[in-house]
Amino acid sequence: MGSALARNWLRAGRAVRVWNRTASRAKPLADDGAVVCGTPAEAVAGVDTVVTMLFDAEAVAGAIIDAAPAPGTLWVQTSTVGVAGAQRLAALAAERDLVFVDAPVVGTRQPAEQGTLTVLASGPDEVRGRVEALCGPIAARVRWLGAAGTGSRLKLVLNSWLGNAVAATGQALALADGLGVQPRLFLELIEGGPLDMAYAHLKGGAMLAGEYPTAFPLNGAAKNMALVVAAAGDAGVDASLTAAARDLFAAAADGGHAEADMAAVYEAIRVR
Ligand SMILES: NC(=O)c1ccc[n+]([C@@H]2O[C@H](COP(=O)([O-])OP(=O)(O)OC[C@H]3O[C@@H](n4cnc5c(N)ncnc54)[C@H](OP(=O)(O)O)[C@@H]3O)[C@@H](O)[C@H]2O)c1
Repeated sequence: MGSALARNWLRAGRAVRVWNRTASRAKPLADDGAVVCGTPAEAVAGVDTVVTMLFDAEAVAGAIIDAAPAPGTLWVQTSTVGVAGAQRLAALAAERDLVFVDAPVVGTRQPAEQGTLTVLASGPDEVRGRVEALCGPIAARVRWLGAAGTGSRLKLVLNSWLGNAVAATGQALALADGLGVQPRLFLELIEGGPLDMAYAHLKGGAMLAGEYPTAFPLNGAAKNMALVVAAAGDAGVDASLTAAARDLFAAAADGGHAEADMAAVYEAIRVR
């Protein structure tokens, strides 16, 4: 995701400095015109805006602490970090006098590469124009949602819907198979009706093919479902449905599919 963002900014003529923990993954961006840096501190030297796109809040906090951007720098945090994660990062920004915008994104690898993500931005209104201009090359839509943290809250709601829907698709297909019904009949049955969703065909097709080219990695889905369960628990909402889905994602990841697409959750559900 980080590489896709950087490439879109470079294509739009923006100056981009990048850092990634595993240097070999950032290095190809030099061919696109990025300044590839050896440390987070080097990457933020002289910039007015820092964007983080890393796995989780722990990784983001570590990178920002090492980077130590200058006070007053705009920090647009685009990773999915959950409610507590966004609060932790906002506190880190406040300690360091950074202008924090919580801005998780909706959309997988392809929309990221095409610059058609939706950004769920929340932060101080004074920087709204700057954030919208920044997001022009990476997003089809920027939703400005108010106080920092609202973006991460809405993102978790979406993650809950999405993760449960993918796990439910897997369960329906596996159930059909287990009951001796052609699983494709389920997809055909819902097609075009009120029970349909494009994702059932996209992810269900991958499940039935047993091929999981990564649009959104399974380990990321497991992380996101754990964030949903934590946030739901704190909010007094029963999260048992999502907890069951989280366990299935985690089991499929442990089964060797961590880097595969989240559709590989099917491997933890299907008939043995
Ligand atoms: N992929 C999607 O479809 C999608 C969609 C929406 C939101 N997101 C969110 O976007 C974020 C990035 O996802 P991704 O798909 O790009 O994941 P990814 O390909 O697995 O990349 C994860 C990144 O985090 C870095 N990282 C992990 N642990 C770290 C640590 N402890 N310290 C420093 N860096 C660390 C990795 O560095 P290394 O290269 O060194 O491992 C890598 O740069 C996640 O929060 C994800 O939930 C993803």
